[in-house]
Amino acid sequence: MALFLWLGSQLSSCWSSFSILGVFLTVFTLLFDFMKRRRKWSRYPPGPVSLPFIGTMLCIDFHNPHHSFKQLRKTFGNIFSLQNCWTNVVVLNGYKTVKEALVHRSEDFADRPYLPMYEHVGYGDKSEGIIAAKYGHVWKELRRFALSTLRNFGMGKRSLEERVTEEARFLCAAVNAEEGHPFDLRFLVNNAVCNVIYTTIYGERFDYGDETFKKLLHLFENSLREETGFLPQLLNVVPILLRIPGVPQNVFRKQKAFMDFIDVLIDKHMKTWNPDDIRDFTDAFLKEMEKGEEAEKSGFNYNNLRLVTADLFSAGSDTTAITLRWALLYMILHPEIQSKVQAEIDKVIGKEQSPTMKDQVNMHYTNAVIHETQRMGDIAPVGLPHMTYRDTELQGFFIPKVTVWVTPHNSAAVHLQTQVESLVSTEVGHFEMLNPGRRACLGEQLARMELFIFFTTLLQKFTFVLPKDQPRPREDGRFALTSSPHPFLVQAIPR
Ligand code: HEM
Repeated sequence: MALFLWLGSQLSSCWSSFSILGVFLTVFTLLFDFMKRRRKWSRYPPGPVSLPFIGTMLCIDFHNPHHSFKQLRKTFGNIFSLQNCWTNVVVLNGYKTVKEALVHRSEDFADRPYLPMYEHVGYGDKSEGIIAAKYGHVWKELRRFALSTLRNFGMGKRSLEERVTEEARFLCAAVNAEEGHPFDLRFLVNNAVCNVIYTTIYGERFDYGDETFKKLLHLFENSLREETGFLPQLLNVVPILLRIPGVPQNVFRKQKAFMDFIDVLIDKHMKTWNPDDIRDFTDAFLKEMEKGEEAEKSGFNYNNLRLVTADLFSAGSDTTAITLRWALLYMILHPEIQSKVQAEIDKVIGKEQSPTMKDQVNMHYTNAVIHETQRMGDIAPVGLPHMTYRDTELQGFFIPKVTVWVTPHNSAAVHLQTQVESLVSTEVGHFEMLNPGRRACLGEQLARMELFIFFTTLLQKFTFVLPKDQPRPREDGRFALTSSPHPFLVQAIPR
């Protein structure tokens, strides 16, 4: 009996010690969380209420963040703040605000946040690629190298234009082979665009219908999907979760498989590399790596070779292909606009001659249609995250060193035809849609060339129509970092 009494008293004293410890730990954790989430700056942008630990993450639909941003903008204005757990985020909305930040305060907004979710594919201190690289010496060197090497392999020069023109011809032959039957042009358009950047970087192209290409496209699209949603965002802001064995491998399975694909290409290059015969971008990078310590300091290492080429391939294929798919979707939805583009093509270029970039200056209507496609398709609705390089100010708000999202184009939708007509009257000859500033799209020139040549070549040869038994395709986008059209079928009637 005495033993039971003794045990009872021990248990109750233990229990009360546990309770005290529990209360202490809870208070400590809440206090710690409060300190971490506390915003100590005056004139910091307003935002929704931040909850313990999770911050404002529940306010955002991470599968469609741009929709949530649009709603929050109504309440908080063009510049508002969020908190992803303990990470402070500022969102800039609208063309004017974004231009002020990215152009007038270009360096202040030129950095990128560190993204731990890419560590499992080799991203880290010494190898960040270009897209996700910190603003600094290595990023500058790699960006400069990429631009000049792409130029040497044709970018901005006639030879690349010829390659795009040739690929447009292959594309038309593949479309012709569909013999006017309904088909999904996603594979053909992606194949064509991918071939241009793929040959430049890795020196190979895929025949239309190639099974490896289909697998690669599938892998790539799914790897983008893996990066959207709540979980990847959580892993980025609580990176310790990535240390749990198996987590990155399982969450980012397709991303890893995509990198394995790139690794095979790079291995092949390394085995056949010859300094006297530089075949493509990968060979040129390998040559740079041979230059020793100086090159190493500028980021020319093996992991960066993998990441830089993967960056160029991923940024340079899907984006342009999706834009072209939006353009063709709008053409089947607005046959009157399609007829006007074709009339301009027939007048300026003719029915047989291949379109060239020289024709572009005389094609105001077609340029306006491409411009509007970019605005309405809004294929990168939340772009890529920036980070402030230093504390700065914007429209009276203080913005410390935080992650920044920019959404330049979320203005009210305007009817395509009205907008095209008004653009034609102001003779817009180019577009300014890919975000300006230091982190401006590196492939803008190539993208413009591809959009113009592929689009005009296709419309010169075919009229695209909606198959009779098909419902009207959806005009809202499917978000997975980029916003692409939902699958739709077309018929291509030879002209
Ligand atoms: C219509 C096609 C394209 C669209 C809509 C597009 C859009 C964008 C956007 C929105 C950014 C982010 C800019 C920022 O952070 O403020 C970007 C960056 C980038 N783009 Fe593009 N892009 C296109 C084509 C291309 C092509 C063809 C290439 C490759 C040759 C390319 C390579 C890159 C790279 C490397 C960056 C990162 C630049 C840096 O961080 O320094 N893009 N692009």
